[in-house]
This record gives sequence, C-alpha cells and structure tokens, in this order.
Amino acid sequence: MATVITIFLVLAVLPSVHLAPSFSPKEEHEFKTWMYKYNRAYELEEYYRRLQIFTENKRKIDHHNTGNRTFTMGLNEFSAMTFAEFRRSFLLTEPQNCSATKGGHISGNGLYPDSVDWRKKGNYVTPVKNQGPCGSCWTFSTTGCLESVTAIATGNLLFLSEQQLVDCAQAFNNHGCNGGLPSQAFEYIKYNKGLMTEKDYPYTAQDGTCKYKPELAAASVKEVVNITKYVEMDMVDAVARYNPVSFAYEVTEDFMHYQEGVYSSTKCHNTTDKVNHAVLAVGYGQEKGTPYWIVKNSWGEGWGMQGYFLIERGKNMCGLAACASYPQV
Ligand SMILES: *[C@@H]1O[C@H](CO)[C@@H](O)[C@H](O)[C@H]1NC(C)=O
Ligand SMILES: *[C@@H]1O[C@H](CO)[C@@H](O)[C@H](O)[C@H]1NC(C)=O
Ligand SMILES: *[C@@H]1O[C@H](CO)[C@@H](O)[C@H](O)[C@H]1NC(C)=O
Ligand SMILES: *[C@@H]1O[C@H](CO)[C@@H](O)[C@H](O)[C@H]1NC(C)=O
Repeated sequence: MATVITIFLVLAVLPSVHLAPSFSPKEEHEFKTWMYKYNRAYELEEYYRRLQIFTENKRKIDHHNTGNRTFTMGLNEFSAMTFAEFRRSFLLTEPQNCSATKGGHISGNGLYPDSVDWRKKGNYVTPVKNQGPCGSCWTFSTTGCLESVTAIATGNLLFLSEQQLVDCAQAFNNHGCNGGLPSQAFEYIKYNKGLMTEKDYPYTAQDGTCKYKPELAAASVKEVVNITKYVEMDMVDAVARYNPVSFAYEVTEDFMHYQEGVYSSTKCHNTTDKVNHAVLAVGYGQEKGTPYWIVKNSWGEGWGMQGYFLIERGKNMCGLAACASYPQV
C-alpha cells in the first residue's frame, strides 16, 4: 500500500493534459486525507476516477449542509463511490414481495410513552454489525430482531448467525447476497426450528452452501408477526409494548451520505415495490417536534451515528411501514 501511494504522489505532480482538473487543490487534499483515514490505495487512473467521484459527493454534502435541513451529511467509507456502485454492492436490487395486507399484530390501547430506546432498557441489543459488500441487510435485520426478542424473553443476549440465513433460507424467497426479507427469514427459522450463533456459523459476506447443524441451534421462532402494510402506528405499538421491529424502506443517494439527525427525504418513494434495504427499529422519540425512529443499521459502527440513524416517524417515510415484522419466541 505504501508503495502505491508513493508512486502516485510522484506521478501526480506531472502535468496531465487528458485529465482536466475539475477539483481544487483543497478538494484533492481532502480526498487524500479521506484515503488515509479509510486506508485506501489506488492505481493512478483509478485515483483520478475516485477523486472525481469523491469531489462530486463532497460538493453535494457541503451543499446539503448549508441548507435548511433536519439531518447533516458527511464523509464516510462510501464517499468515493457513485450511488449506482453503492446500490449494486449494498442494497436489494430487485423488488421484494413485501405486502402483508393483513398483518397479525394486535394493537393495545393506543397509549404509548413519548420515547422508547431498547438499548437503554437493559442488555437487549447487540453491537452494530457490518454486512460488507453483500446484499444481506435482510439477514442482519432478522438476527438483530431475533437477538433482541430472545434477550427480552430469556435475559440472554446471543449473537446470531447471518450466514446461516444467507446460505440456507432460499426456499422462503430469500436469495443470499442478492436479497431477501426479514419476514421471510423469520418464516425460514420457524420452519427450520433453529438458528445457530455467529460464532458457530460465522459471517463471510458471500453466498455459500448450507452448513446448518441442528444440534447447534441457539434460537428459534414460534410465530412470525407481520405489521399490516403502511400501518406505522402498529410499529409504534409493537416497539413500545414488545420489542424492536424489523422493517425495510427505500435508500436513495442522499441516505448514503447520512451523518446525523432526523433523516427525511423527498427523493424516496413510499410504496412496497421500492424498498431496497432492511434494518431494525430499536426505539423512537422526537426532536424539536419532529417524531423519529431510532434505527440500527448494518454498515458498521463508523457509519452514521455510531452505526445508527434517525428517520422521520409518522409519514411512512421512504416506505418504512411497507413491510415490517417481528418474531415471537
Ligand atoms: C426550515 O424548515 C422547517 C421545516 O420544513 C420550516 O418550518 C422552517 O420555516 C424552515 N426555515 C427556513 C429559514 O426556511
Ligand atoms: C416473489 O414471490 C414469487 C412467488 O412466490 C417468486 O417467484 C419470486 O421469486 C419472489 N420474488 C423475490 C424477489 O423473492
Ligand atoms: C408474513 O409475511 C411473510 C412474508 O412476507 C409471509 O410468508 C407470511 O405468510 C406472513 N405471515 C403471516 C402470519 O401473515
Ligand atoms: C405516499 O405519499 C403520497 C404523497 O405524499 C401520499 O398521498 C400517499 O398517501 C402515500 N402513500 C403511502 C402508502 O404512504
């Protein structure tokens, strides 16, 4: 890595006619600082390509941050990627079958606390994980939810296996690194009568053959509860009274640069056919009159607010109430 950097530093001072510098020295300096922070090394041509993309992203971020906004954007490990590249590597690229027209969740009396945060109620939420370049968000949403539901029921917080879901849950319309849905993954676990731990069935961020060992089952699902589509109040009810809830929504480019604050967007859609990312609602609250969800993501602790984000609540923002679900154990 050090060699590659040295080479480009030497070459970079040579005049280059075919590469019009549509970035300032300051922007190039910011790019080098970013490369250093995220431990990146590029061959010369790729260096200029990434610098160009980085510069465009950085300008969008700065522009967004000077406007009237409820959330800030910032640099992160995705800052030198186009959204098309990001989508191919990290999001669900096909429309999913999420349309629980009549879910099984039964609501309470409609009286809820103003805020709930399962991270603070006890040892119920595992640390943020990292899916890497594999469209397996749905497995992390699933394990995150089942980990919490199991911990609330038993007092024992386990780390459960995403890879088992990537490798073994195909019969329930799941497709490993090419996508799936938490509700379908819960159905698989219920049918399979078991999910192994992270330690016994570790994550590889790649499709593999199923290596499930029934004798090592550590958790299971008795019943799958779907939230009736677009009934966001039922999600509030479930999070307030029972446990964190898995949901899917549509990620658009502005979300890739999210840093902190209450995310809301006019770019995303609110329908079931557009959802492309699955995550876990671990609580809710409000800030300056804007209600929000507290959400655990699976892009590592370095992304967003220590791996979490807030998203506006009450408007089915980006279709977040289109296909929510949770298991009973
Ligand atoms: C900023 O946006 C909020 C919410 O949309 C709005 O109430 C407020 O008036 C705006 N402020 C300015 C200075 O435009
Ligand atoms: C949706 O369901 C249909 C019918 O079960 C199935 O053929 C199709 O592959 C599913 N789509 C996805 C993206 O899983
Ligand atoms: C919940 O949703 C899944 C997948 O979308 C579906 O297969 C299942 O039948 C639903 N479960 C119930 C109890 O409605
Ligand atoms: C989607 O947004 C449109 C425009 O704001 C709104 O009229 C519609 O009711 C929303 N649909 C759902 C399912 O949330």
